[in-house]
Amino acid sequence: MCGIVGYTGHEQACPIIIDGLKKLEYRGYDSAGVALVTSRGIKVRKKAGRIANLEESIRGERMEGTTGIGHTRWATHGSPNDLNAHPHMSMGGQIAIVHNGIIENYAELREELKKDYGIEFISDTDSEVIAQLIGVLYEGKLEDAVYEAVSRMRGAYTFAAVAADEPEKMVAYRKDTPLIAGIGRDCNFIASDMTALLKYSSDIYLIENDEMVVCTPDKIQIFNKDRKRMDRQVLKVTWSMEDAEKGGYQHFMLKEINEQPRVVKETLERRLNADGKIHLDGIELTAEDLSKFTKIYIVACGTAYHAGLVGKYAIEKFARIPVEVDIASEFRYRDPFVDENTLFIAISQSGETLDTLMSLREAKSKGARVLSVVNVVGSSVARESDDVFYTWAGPEIAVASTKAYTTQLICMYLLALYMGTLRGTITEEYCDTIIGELRQMPDKIQQILDGSHKIESIAKLLYNRNSIFFIGRGVDSAVAYEGSLKLKEISYINSSAIAAGELKHGTIALMEPDTTVIALATQDRLFEKMYSNIEEVRARHAHILSVVKEGNKMIRKVSTDVIYIPACADEVTPILTIIPLQLFAYYVARERGENIDKPRNLAKSVTVE
Ligand code: AGP
Repeated sequence: MCGIVGYTGHEQACPIIIDGLKKLEYRGYDSAGVALVTSRGIKVRKKAGRIANLEESIRGERMEGTTGIGHTRWATHGSPNDLNAHPHMSMGGQIAIVHNGIIENYAELREELKKDYGIEFISDTDSEVIAQLIGVLYEGKLEDAVYEAVSRMRGAYTFAAVAADEPEKMVAYRKDTPLIAGIGRDCNFIASDMTALLKYSSDIYLIENDEMVVCTPDKIQIFNKDRKRMDRQVLKVTWSMEDAEKGGYQHFMLKEINEQPRVVKETLERRLNADGKIHLDGIELTAEDLSKFTKIYIVACGTAYHAGLVGKYAIEKFARIPVEVDIASEFRYRDPFVDENTLFIAISQSGETLDTLMSLREAKSKGARVLSVVNVVGSSVARESDDVFYTWAGPEIAVASTKAYTTQLICMYLLALYMGTLRGTITEEYCDTIIGELRQMPDKIQQILDGSHKIESIAKLLYNRNSIFFIGRGVDSAVAYEGSLKLKEISYINSSAIAAGELKHGTIALMEPDTTVIALATQDRLFEKMYSNIEEVRARHAHILSVVKEGNKMIRKVSTDVIYIPACADEVTPILTIIPLQLFAYYVARERGENIDKPRNLAKSVTVE
């Protein structure tokens, strides 16, 4: 999630913009920049690294201009460096833009602009396409050029633009990613997030999807995509700074749970061509490479390890290559069998987990090909890998990982499908079917989120239990581990997960009247087995909360309560099954009054052994 701030008024814009950008730093950033409309054209200053680097680079320089836009970048496309930082300018310097989101058809537009207008691109971002496109369409009225440009773009994006010849105007367009306009005294603002403006304005307009906002110092106009002027209620914001950083959610964890529809879509769609075929840009695995691999290791810690467990199912099912999943702190010390025919996959949200990083180094030293699935661009794990598959989850602030997990699953499914098609172990039709299932995930996740009140009421019944078991079979057992970790790390309830078939080999001895068991039974082909396991624990008078696909009525006979997920193919249920478990953990911890975003004894990134 990048940050956008714009100002037009009668004060010098630069300090106001930078101050606003600093309020967005919590979202993560790896570069920042400003564009000012001055009497001698547009001046752009941008720098990789913290906002302090940008401030240092302009110290002592005259940064005049009463209209300007600024940006903090959370890199997703193109590594974090000065050239890829925003703002981006049109080739003639007429236009500058800042952008948040993805232009899905940027590659086509880039080629068109090169061929038809001779545009020379200087960055490897999708965002620069917006500046160049508006630049070639501009005929003196910025909003006209923006409209025309938007009609040619596809994706989820919000951007702001300024033009050298219209020194008091800022134009912004919203599609999917957030945008607000702030009303000042003889000045006006735009921002991706209320946090940036709280110091200057508490009267805002919420900009809806497919709307354009035109700001000058004395007025804000909002238009819909048919260029009809929209009347909009002023919203008075009473958030504290802390609240604003959470976008109005009580905790970062709840905000990040609710960001999953968007970030799952972003992580998926960026790797699908218009025809739905997979392109894994930045990953150079060829059919020849794959035919050489005799073993795949997936190595990670915590939630990332649990994503690896699902990845194992996917790769073995689609690509038919044996996969061993290992906890990084174990892998390092068991002298694993690794050679040049090994593919080592590291999964890490932070890209700084020491156990994972050291395991990667060990595998690399023994000749393995290293591919990592990472969220933080430019992190240590990413830098030391041969190929990097980025999850585009945006900054994950809460210690308990949620959106990183579901976007890691998306990457594992895409990788497994890609390998399967390269190796010919799945048909194009089957691949298209699974891609179709994955494309429905954002909406289906949203359906579960919309029904979270049911999960909240169940959590209120169970929040004071002192032990809770998660059971499942097949890929549900992998999700059971993640659901159990979510619960224990933020509620401190003693929770454990076990493959349901394993119960009879010892754990069932722990079942007592009213023991709580959360049974995941989403796999059609394993349902009967799961049903028997649930009956086993029910016979010991356990309290059973089952999670099944909608339409499953039989489960009610053996469950105290049931949570339904939207129907989908067995292969991809983990992306949905985990959502109610994340919400359950959150609401239980909230009922217990725990510090949800910063649980005791835990750190967001464990950079020690
Ligand atoms: C998950 O909720 C925990 N915060 C923790 O288990 C985490 O997944 C683990 O430390 C790995 O972190 P990484 O993904 O940044 O490597």
